[in-house]
Amino acid sequence: MTTTQTVYLNGEYLPLDEARVPVLDRGFIFGDGVYEVVPAYQGRLFRWGEHRARLARSLDRIRITDPLDDAGWADVVSTLVARHPWPDQMVYLQVTRGVAKRDHAFPKGVEPTVFAMASEFPHAAPALREQGASAITLPDERWLHNDIKSISLLGNVLARQAAVDAGAIECVMLRDGMLTEGSASNVWLVRGGRVAGVPKDQLVLGGIRFGVVETLCRQCSIPFELRRIAREELFAADELLLSSATREVLPVTRLDGRPVGRGVPGPVYQRLYDAYQAAKRA
Ligand code: PDD
Repeated sequence: MTTTQTVYLNGEYLPLDEARVPVLDRGFIFGDGVYEVVPAYQGRLFRWGEHRARLARSLDRIRITDPLDDAGWADVVSTLVARHPWPDQMVYLQVTRGVAKRDHAFPKGVEPTVFAMASEFPHAAPALREQGASAITLPDERWLHNDIKSISLLGNVLARQAAVDAGAIECVMLRDGMLTEGSASNVWLVRGGRVAGVPKDQLVLGGIRFGVVETLCRQCSIPFELRRIAREELFAADELLLSSATREVLPVTRLDGRPVGRGVPGPVYQRLYDAYQAAKRA
């Protein structure tokens, strides 16, 4: 049985196929907006406070006045989750600068467009968790403000498609030979039992799982550090991991066609994955 998806658009709840945005919306014309992807497990939002705070920061960075307050956002998100039957869901939120005659500069007196939608959570296939994922590396050709969760994702889209074209599921991006992030994930290196990620600066999105991975490492007594990571280190890693709202924590076992470590999901992945599952239930 298919579920009719209800979405939220500018104050109204309506069926997905009735939701319409005018073609002059600046999200459509310029990619002028920001978004969030929030998981909900068994009807409960996971790390909602962190996602809400990042949405507020992204809006502030692109100078869109936050259209809703904390209670307003919480209401939209929890209403959408409550209206759908899937045990695990992901909620997509998007705010654009609104509808206006095409001109690059900000329009005056325009209300932002607010859209939100809940979908069934796209759990990674068991085979992917058992065998691990393939990834490729490519130069990071995006702009210099990847800390903003912008809907302008052309660089990410092209990188992900290059991965898919190569039979991989993710593209690990490098700027000047140094790791930045995946096309839609943060990347973690495991070497000698230590987990390393890159510093949270403007070249990477501060994933909500950045904090989650750090907390889980502490809980599991796994040494954790943020530092610059060179390309060569990726190929000398014992394990590589990806993290994102939808992939949670996922092992990368092949990089550019070469095995990572022993070429199978490693013990640090397994501990972090188990700890992540426990955190979801807590
Ligand atoms: N993307 N870096 C990029 C470029 C991302 O797009 C994402 C997530 C992350 C991980 O962030 P978080 O842990 O908050 O999900 C890092 C989402 C899932 C997406 O665009 O679908």
